[in-house]
Amino acid sequence: MKVLVTGGAGYIGSHTVYLLIEQGHDVVVVDNLVTGHKQDVHPDAKFYYGNIGDYPLMVDILRKEKVDGLIHFAAYSLVGESMSQPFKYYENNVSATNVMLAAMAECGVKQLVFSSTAATYGDVNVPLITEEMPTHPTNPYGQTKLAMEQMIAWHGQAYGMRHVAFRYFNVAGAHSSGRIYEKHDPETHLIPLVLEVAAGVRKQIYIFGDDYATPDGTCIRDYIHVMDLAVAHVKAMNYLIDGGKSMTFNLGNGEGFSVRQVIEAAQKVTGREILTHVSDRRQGDPAKLIASSLLATETLNWIPQYPSIEAIIESAWKAAY
Ligand code: UFG
Repeated sequence: MKVLVTGGAGYIGSHTVYLLIEQGHDVVVVDNLVTGHKQDVHPDAKFYYGNIGDYPLMVDILRKEKVDGLIHFAAYSLVGESMSQPFKYYENNVSATNVMLAAMAECGVKQLVFSSTAATYGDVNVPLITEEMPTHPTNPYGQTKLAMEQMIAWHGQAYGMRHVAFRYFNVAGAHSSGRIYEKHDPETHLIPLVLEVAAGVRKQIYIFGDDYATPDGTCIRDYIHVMDLAVAHVKAMNYLIDGGKSMTFNLGNGEGFSVRQVIEAAQKVTGREILTHVSDRRQGDPAKLIASSLLATETLNWIPQYPSIEAIIESAWKAAY
């Protein structure tokens, strides 16, 4: 198949592009390189520099490349930043996706795999989150991703496009080659920051609140390996090409780890001491998010290959250091 990957120079996008190419697919990438890295785009992918909110550019690419479908990663994705700069998130995530969808309609592209987030659920106090749980995002990032999901669904109804939306839980880890890995600037995610402390790049890790209603007081998240996510995207595109109906799936491991447990696991994997300092809660953080990914397993035959937190951390550690 031939796929256009938006945000293919970003963390999850670049890993998905690698997998698509390893499986023999043709890949076209569009990325504005605001947060992505040109060197992370697989050399066999065709690269277009630009913005998905640029209608003439998107129509031009879609007309020329005649892809079977789009995998849409391009977006801003930081919870904390979205709280202080909501405008940026509505502009880049919602408005630009709207333009991209109009270009897809114009060019008759009928299949879309969309990168959504567990942040669409908000603060849900249940052992396992399933896709039919109510969605009440606690930050503009989650709210814009939910709006994008809804836009995509309405657009699909109007133009006969089918989609899969994936609500990711916490992504970490790297491609086994070590050629690409998570490198945000500035980095805000827990696992890469903890590894920076282990590597001596950073003095200590700030624990954002230890007064949550969890066993050790720190936030609990469900960590999933980036290559497991990549596999899900390829499976979803195949599912849509085979005529599958529009669906929304969670992607996680179904097990939660607290911030303190992640730090302990990182100490074990790296064999280094990791200094911690408890600071204030970060605004917009739900206490606990753990996925049920049963629907993805049943529908797409998707089974994570990296279920352990140690394996995920080890993969990130090996690639980055
Ligand atoms: N944390 C710290 N210290 C840090 C960084 C993070 O204590 O220096 C904590 C956070 O408060 C949170 C946990 O570690 O409790 C994980 O934080 P991340 O920033 O790594 O990830 P988030 O849970 O905020 O966000 C991730 C994705 C989002 C997605 C969200 C779903 O980045 O795209 O999971 O909750 F929306």
